[in-house]
Parts: sequence; structure tokens; C-alpha cells
Amino acid sequence: MRDMILAVCGKGGVGKTTVTAVAARELCRLKSTKALVVDADPGGGLEMALSIKPNKTLNDVRKELIEEVKEGKRDERDLAVSLDYLLAEALTEVGNLAFLSIGRPEDEGCYCKVNVLLKDAIAGLAGRFDVTVIDAEAGIEQVNRRVMGEVDYVLLVSDTSTKGIRVGETIKQVADRMVKGEGAGLLINRVLDERAVDLIKASTFLEVIGWIPEDDTIRRFDEEDKSFFDLPDCPAVVSIRNAFEKVGLV
Ligand SMILES: Nc1ncnc2c1ncn2[C@@H]1O[C@H](COP(=O)(O)OP(=O)(O)OP(=O)(O)O)[C@@H](O)[C@H]1O
Ligand SMILES: [Mg+2]
Repeated sequence: MRDMILAVCGKGGVGKTTVTAVAARELCRLKSTKALVVDADPGGGLEMALSIKPNKTLNDVRKELIEEVKEGKRDERDLAVSLDYLLAEALTEVGNLAFLSIGRPEDEGCYCKVNVLLKDAIAGLAGRFDVTVIDAEAGIEQVNRRVMGEVDYVLLVSDTSTKGIRVGETIKQVADRMVKGEGAGLLINRVLDERAVDLIKASTFLEVIGWIPEDDTIRRFDEEDKSFFDLPDCPAVVSIRNAFEKVGLV
């Protein structure tokens, strides 16, 4: 098992959750593939896009463990969470897919701790699945803190803005030091005019692995709060699938 761990990274609002939700849609059709889908963004959003009601989040599990230590039900020395415990408590299974969500830590200190737990969970759980897809938090923080250390492929998503591309480039530079796998590529989203893709190709050192058109179906599904599992083969879905085929995820 563990063919690939892929993290979807990029600036805020560029389409990371959309791309991850479409990955889940594609993977659920490959019934014999066991896939882990991780919402690593404390802001959430992936469950909503997929209409999933998650079990406990990693942050919930962490808080419960602390309570158990306080009440004397658990020894402080064994605060390290066992994989079986995580599997039982924090994974939500839907067919061949399993979901794990980081949850919403209350403050900066909790954020650090739950990120460490997430890093361990990814390292421990990914081996039990064929593929793992992670919807990362916007920006470089989780890459910089090695939360994505086990990742094989960093999929950088950006809109056509210069800012979005530059954030992608910065993430790639940090990933070169902080991520084990060397694979990385840029997927350009919300393209209105294909000429923009050529301009970006000429101005970035990132490998452009594909582009996604601006697509009304995506916007409508978001507006109407429909599950991305039910998306038709609209142009955005087809181009996202092509990108995943290219990197070997599906
Ligand atoms: N190809 C597209 N066509 C039309 N709308 C899109 C497309 N891609 C994304 N969107 C819309 O852009 C918005 C932001 O997308 P999304 O939530 O996937 O971004 P994100 O990178 O996960 O954001 P955040 O950093 O806040 O988590 C959503 O409303 C989504 O519907
Ligand atoms: Mg998101």
C-alpha cells in the first residue's frame, strides 16, 4: 500500500478544496482503491463540499485525551495517540474512502499541538491506504512546520494572479527542504482565457501540469450547497481528473 501521499497547497481561496473534493469524487469511483482524504485546514470546508458529517476531529480527540489525563483515567506518559485509537475515533468511512479532519484549535498553542498530531497521523495512517490526499491550509505554514513532511507530491493550485503563482513558488521552495518527496506541479485554476496559461508558463520555474477553466457548474454547486460527489463531468472536473491522471493519483 501507500502508492502516494499528495498535498493540495496554495494561496487562500484559489481552489484547493475544490480540487481535493473532485479528487474524492474520482477516488470513490475506483472502488478497489482505499483512499484517505484529509482536511488539514482548520477553516474546514471540505466536509461541506462533500456533504460529509465527520466523526470526531483530531482536535476533539486531543482534547478528550487531555481530559482523561486530568481525570486520572489515562497516564500522561501515554498521551501519544495509538493508530488504532485514531482509526476508531477520528476516521469517517464512506465506501472505499476514509476522512480525517484536523478540526478547529482554540488558540495558537493548540494549533501547534494538533498540527504535530496531524503530522503523526499522516505518517502512521497513510501506510494503510493506497493513496492519501490532503487539503492543506492556505500558505506555507504547514509545509514549513513539516506537517507535510511525508508527502510524495505537492500539488500547487493557483488562480491566474501573479500573487497566487508567487505563493505557489514560495511553497515549492520551502517544500524542497521540508518535504520528503520531490514531486511538485502547478495546476492553474479559474482560467478564462488560455493565453493566460502561456504567460504563466513563460514566467514561472514551476512545472505546469494543467489548467482548470472557470466553470459555472462548480460555482452553482457551491452556491446551492450540493455535494461534489454528485458533480457531473463538467469541464473543471475533466481537467482536474486529467491532472490527477498525469501525476498518477487516479
Ligand atoms: N474552476 C472554478 N470555476 C468556478 N468557481 C470556482 C472554480 N474553482 C473554485 N471556484 C470557487 O472559488 C471559491 C474558492 O474555492 P475553494 O474553496 O476551493 O478555495 P480554497 O483554496 O480551498 O480556499 P481557502 O484557502 O479559503 O480554503 C469557491 O467559491 C469555489 O466555488
Ligand atoms: Mg479550502
